[in-house]
Amino acid sequence: MKAPVKVTVTGAAGQIAYAMLFRIASGEMLGADQPVKFQLLEITPAMKALEGVIMELEDCAFPLMHGIDAFDDAKQAFDDASYGMLVGASPRGPGMERSDLLAANGGIFKAQGAAINNVANRDIRIVVVGNPANTNALVCINNAPDINPKQITAMTRLDHNRAQSQLAKKAQCQTDLISKITIWGNHSTTQYPDLSQALIAGKKADEFFDMDWYENLYIPRVAKRGAEIIEARGASSAASAANAAIEHIRDWVMDTPENDWTSMGVFTDGSYGIAPGIVYSYPVRCSDGEIEIVTGIDISSYSREKMEVTEKELLEEREAVKNL
Ligand code: NAD
Ligand code: LMR
Repeated sequence: MKAPVKVTVTGAAGQIAYAMLFRIASGEMLGADQPVKFQLLEITPAMKALEGVIMELEDCAFPLMHGIDAFDDAKQAFDDASYGMLVGASPRGPGMERSDLLAANGGIFKAQGAAINNVANRDIRIVVVGNPANTNALVCINNAPDINPKQITAMTRLDHNRAQSQLAKKAQCQTDLISKITIWGNHSTTQYPDLSQALIAGKKADEFFDMDWYENLYIPRVAKRGAEIIEARGASSAASAANAAIEHIRDWVMDTPENDWTSMGVFTDGSYGIAPGIVYSYPVRCSDGEIEIVTGIDISSYSREKMEVTEKELLEEREAVKNL
């Protein structure tokens, strides 16, 4: 058994956290030999509800759960944390875009970035889930100058999983036969779910669909799936979001599968001609705990155009949070 690691989860009394904490405590994220100590962060009015979540976690008697503390202060919650699941933020309602949340949520990530900079483990790995995730991650990066920006990522794994699942439905196959899907750009409706490299059981995926389906049904379906769920459930995705966050960190720590990659929002370094200094989703491989952008993918003019649309939106979002 390894030494316990501290996992900070923000928004710990919210919907996503409720679908996430129990799975982390059972070892699904960091492995069956990795005990965890939870440091849960909430706003003061939600501390009572958080107490109830903690009681339930205790009642599971998870052998891997070696401690649990609740805080309404970010500096205490991130103290010596090795993992940060940054979920706490308002969700959007029907008719809203995720970027409409920037004004309400951006400030949360300024304060948490500063706390992380001061007190977190220098090797902390962070996934930002709270929307708009890419630009919130950028705010966090900018307020945590002593933490390597490669360690602060935004979640586009839910989009990646949606893209995989919708393609599997079309090809009438199981999802595990599909590889090399990419989500480029923003976790928003401008995202580009790219199947140009995708394989289904080793064959080029485009043998299974035509351009009309791809362009007019598939891409919009994946990009607007969040809104479709809000419309149906009356609340934003929670269990699938929790699952995606767990898989994001699991692959980061335990490597992406051989011959495949995943998608993550990472701090840009100019790769594939995307402007440096934003958080943009790329195809990435993880090994030995490091995230590397997949290199050498041929970008068609069709893809380039879509990659630039989502880049432009992220540049506009960056401009909108200049004060943070
Ligand atoms: P929720 O309202 O159920 O829970 C959010 C929790 O965050 C609440 O309990 C709230 O009290 C808490 N909170 C608010 N401000 C906080 C702060 N400063 N510090 C700590 N906690 C704080 O919402 P949810 O359904 O769990 O969604 C959370 C966020 O995740 C939303 O912004 C939502 O849009 C986003 N989301 C992102 C993805 C993605 O793919 N990136 C997917 C689903 C949801
Ligand atoms: C999602 O993609 O399900 C989340 O980002 C929630 C939302 O607002 O769409």
